[in-house]
Amino acid sequence: MACDDKVDCGRRRLIVATATAGGVAGVVAAIPFVASMLPSERAKSAGAPVEVDISKLAPGQMITVEWRGKPVWIINRTKEMLESLKKADDKVSDPNSEKPMQPEYCKNETRSIKPEIFVAVGICTHLGCSPTDKFKTGAESGIDADWPGGFLCPCHGSTFDLAGRVYKNKPAPDNLEVPAHKYLGDTKIVIGISQDSKGA
Ligand code: FES
Repeated sequence: MACDDKVDCGRRRLIVATATAGGVAGVVAAIPFVASMLPSERAKSAGAPVEVDISKLAPGQMITVEWRGKPVWIINRTKEMLESLKKADDKVSDPNSEKPMQPEYCKNETRSIKPEIFVAVGICTHLGCSPTDKFKTGAESGIDADWPGGFLCPCHGSTFDLAGRVYKNKPAPDNLEVPAHKYLGDTKIVIGISQDSKGA
């Protein structure tokens, strides 16, 4: 796969650096080094937080990072994208995010901490497929002519708006999950730590 965004490229560089260090250390003292690697691998699969630099995420763009083995989307919504949310209010099944699919600090009309930046787990709440971004407005295969932009699940046709709210009468029962996350400054987000928590 092409190394086409900073987050993925950075992660790959980190993996390469770790593998290189492992190779060198393996010659000197294989067993102690391998033992010292185990907790961090365990921590990763158990869901260690993931830090993401969003300084290069332009309005209208989305990046995907991996957290706990799941795709997590980060979208920088434009003013028009945010306006589209109001238009979808009467078409989505849980417009006010009553179901607990987001942390308390994202239970608002944009389902986010900052209005423009939306963070969501990219897994459909029906049977777990990954929805596709359909940011372009208007009709397309599987979506209506008045489509304001959002996400379409390719498996059974559930649609979600740009706040991950599921449209009515679709197989998916719930809005997309918004994971715990926290800002470390203006352009850095940590996925997996609550905005309410004191530590990073
Ligand atoms: S898995 Fe998404 S609609 Fe069925």
